[in-house]
Formats: sequence, structure tokens, C-alpha cells
Amino acid sequence: MINDHVRDTIDRFPLGFVATVTPGGRPAVSPKGTFLVLDDKTVAFGDIRSPGTVTNLAANPECEVNFVNILTRKGARLRGQARMLRRGTDAFEALISRWHATWPDLADRIGTLVVIDVAAVKPLTTPPYDDGASEEEMIAAYKAKLAGMYP
Ligand SMILES: Cc1cc2nc3c(=O)[nH]c(=O)nc-3n(C[C@H](O)[C@H](O)[C@H](O)COP(=O)(O)O)c2cc1C
Repeated sequence: MINDHVRDTIDRFPLGFVATVTPGGRPAVSPKGTFLVLDDKTVAFGDIRSPGTVTNLAANPECEVNFVNILTRKGARLRGQARMLRRGTDAFEALISRWHATWPDLADRIGTLVVIDVAAVKPLTTPPYDDGASEEEMIAAYKAKLAGMYP
């Protein structure tokens, strides 16, 4: 389900935009940059200061996360259900070393690991691919664009 391409996207660009539903039924989206792939059906991020997302998921675990590789302009939409692993529980302690290894400056501030059991994955591509653009061309174009923005 989380194939090599999706895993590569999340490994390189672990910034997922997490869509939840508020208890009042409104949509909410916020970015989380501490995503890791746990296995081919599971991703997780660290809750550092995301009270809204955590409140929404406690009331309704349904969520969708979008990941985009900003150079290839491809990505994935992951839909699933979230569960919360609180600091101090065996489940949290079994996993947190992965965040220490990847984000040593942030891991101590993670109070909860939000684990998403993925039910469906859909690919994302940008429309220039419909016109025949290649991945190499997209990477070159966006590297140049970023270099122009931050020379
Ligand atoms: C690029 C980026 C990455 C972020 N990564 C995280 C993260 O991994 N964990 C977290 O708790 N907050 C993260 N934040 C901060 C939350 O998105 C921010 O505090 C937001 O207001 C929380 O909203 P919420 O309470 O509705 O989830 C990140 C913000 C940005 C801009």
C-alpha cells in the first residue's frame, strides 16, 4: 500500500498536511513535519504543539494526509484512522527512538505519537505531467526556481 515511491516521498519530504474534522463538523488542515513511515500500512508524526489536530482525532480518528515532493511535483494522499500513543506508555517508548534518531532536537518535545493506520493511498501528480513533462525536467525546473528564490 505504501509502496517504494510513497516511502521515498515521505522519507525525503516528511511534511504532511493533515486534514481532520472538528467536533463541529468543520474541516481543518495543518502541517506536520515529523512524519515517519513505520511499515507499508502505517505512518506517524510527533505531536509537539498540535492541540487542534489531536482534539479532532480524539473525537473522530478519520483523517487524510497529503505529501508532496516539491522537486518532482509528485506525491500521495493517504487516508486512514489515527490512534494516539501517549508518552510514558510502552507503545510510545517502543517507537520514540526513531524520532530521536531523525530529529534529535525535537524528539524530547513530542508528547504523543499520532499513528495513522492507512486504509487507502492515492497518487498525486502535477498537470505538466499530462503534457509529457519528465521527472528530470520537473526537478531541474524547480531546483532553478528555488535557487532563484534563495540564491
Ligand atoms: C513546516 C511545519 C512543520 C510542522 N511540524 C509539526 C509537527 O511535526 N508536530 C507538531 O505538533 N506541530 C508541527 N507544526 C506546528 C503546527 O502545525 C502548528 O502549531 C499548528 O498551528 C497546529 O495546529 P492544530 O492544533 O490545528 O494541529 C509544524 C508547522 C510547520 C509550519
